[in-house]
Amino acid sequence: MPFLSDDLRQKILAYLPRYPSKQAVTVPALHLVHDELRCVPRQAIREIAEMLDLSPAEVHDTMTFYQFFREEDAPLGKTRLWVCRSLACQLRGADELLDKLCGKLGVKPGQTTPDGKVTLEFAECIGACEGAPCVLVNDEARLNIDNVDGLLQSLDRK
Ligand code: FES
Repeated sequence: MPFLSDDLRQKILAYLPRYPSKQAVTVPALHLVHDELRCVPRQAIREIAEMLDLSPAEVHDTMTFYQFFREEDAPLGKTRLWVCRSLACQLRGADELLDKLCGKLGVKPGQTTPDGKVTLEFAECIGACEGAPCVLVNDEARLNIDNVDGLLQSLDRK
């Protein structure tokens, strides 16, 4: 029995006509799996490779090149919270913001809270410098972060 659900397999297959080669579907397929499972398990890598006529090593190489995708031994929490630490944000307190978040969540960047709710990471410029300091909550930019408790409470409501 396949590891990937029928739904995920259908979504991956639906990309094929939209890309010039099967190999080009690797990254979109990884995103689909990662979004749903919060990591890309080894068995998923094997099945993506099979669907795209690639070797598992090729899919794994692509996956690890981007440093965005999590392996199964370190899945993401429900919320992936990125703190921008590039220049504009740094000048407006990103380091302090990251320190506070580490303290309140009890994790270091790259780690997930024990309850699996939040994975804290740092990011380079997310293109919202006018709202420095800013974070990404999964895919949503939040600007002018000056209230760490308010930010964390809003994550609880997600
Ligand atoms: S420096 Fe933080 S969004 Fe650009």
